[in-house]
Amino acid sequence: MRVAITGSLGVNGVFVVRSLRNAGVEILATNSIEDYSLAPDLAGKLNFRIADVTDQSALKSVLRDFRPDVIIHLAAILPVEAQADPYRGYAVNIMGTANVLAVARDLDVARVVFTSSKAAYGEVTGIYAHPTYKPLTEDDAVHPKNIYDHAKVASECLGLNYQRCGGPEFAALRFATIFGPGKVGKHGPMSQISGIVEDAVAGRPVRIRQGGDQGDDYIYVRDAATAIVAIALHKRPLPHAIYNVGSGVARTLFHFADILRGLVPSADIEIGPGLDPMGFGVSYYSALNSDRAKEDFGFEVPELAAALRDYVQILRERT
Ligand SMILES: NC(=O)c1ccc[n+]([C@@H]2O[C@H](COP(=O)([O-])OP(=O)(O)OC[C@H]3O[C@@H](n4cnc5c(N)ncnc54)[C@H](O)[C@@H]3O)[C@@H](O)[C@H]2O)c1
Repeated sequence: MRVAITGSLGVNGVFVVRSLRNAGVEILATNSIEDYSLAPDLAGKLNFRIADVTDQSALKSVLRDFRPDVIIHLAAILPVEAQADPYRGYAVNIMGTANVLAVARDLDVARVVFTSSKAAYGEVTGIYAHPTYKPLTEDDAVHPKNIYDHAKVASECLGLNYQRCGGPEFAALRFATIFGPGKVGKHGPMSQISGIVEDAVAGRPVRIRQGGDQGDDYIYVRDAATAIVAIALHKRPLPHAIYNVGSGVARTLFHFADILRGLVPSADIEIGPGLDPMGFGVSYYSALNSDRAKEDFGFEVPELAAALRDYVQILRERT
């Protein structure tokens, strides 16, 4: 099995790359820039090529030599950046996906795995929002609001249509809120959860003004990578193209902080009550019913406590 990865040096990418290497898979890691700051352990050890997903012909010439069976398409810009520069948001996050799919079809790639997001659901209201958090299923309506959300929905639509017209099998994973090493300092408000963990472990006080009552579905980056690799290497055709990947439960920030205090007894954490800790002004907080992922490729999100234990251990090993 030969797997090519776009966006391989990002927060999720480095975990995906490590997981594929551990599984003994032959990989081609690509990224628009060669920057190993999130994974110095991988520097000099990868079959790596620069490839910008907005440049279809360059992407094709990089991938042509490798002849991948599967492409894992992670390259994207994240919500704050996409919103600040909508044209670039569309260029990278939609046309980038179109280029990956076009190249995949030209090169007879069997499967493209796309990292979608709960952002595809956009603004979450009614029984799906606070305080009931009925888990969203893949068949529920999407209400994309910002550029990033629209790009995820458009990319899924592109993938489904390439599959319909003879392109690769397409699988999109709609992830819950991802946390883990690498996000702090890089992902703005999206790194708040990671920041809480990293401050607590470093002995810095954590002060979040509001949002302790807000529930959300969380997934640890290592577990997200496990899901990506599981679906990429899945041997049989997939019965569906869109998969939620979350725990199915909206945990409050208070609950998250309590688990963390159990792991880091010296943690000094104060979180105010209320909603919207990340200050989006839009209710993106939800739970994702992920039964389909469990049934079709056997992936289930592990306990939050296990994820936090791993994260805390990584941080302690760094010091
Ligand atoms: N972090 C989350 O909470 C979350 C949740 C759901 C889905 N996702 C998705 O997972 C994927 C990876 O996210 P991440 O957290 O690793 O983000 P990241 O920003 O850490 O990584 C993205 C990588 O893509 C690269 N990149 C950016 N523009 C590129 C281009 N034009 N061509 C090639 N490479 C380019 C960047 O250099 C970076 O290495 C994205 O598609 C993201 O939307 C993330």
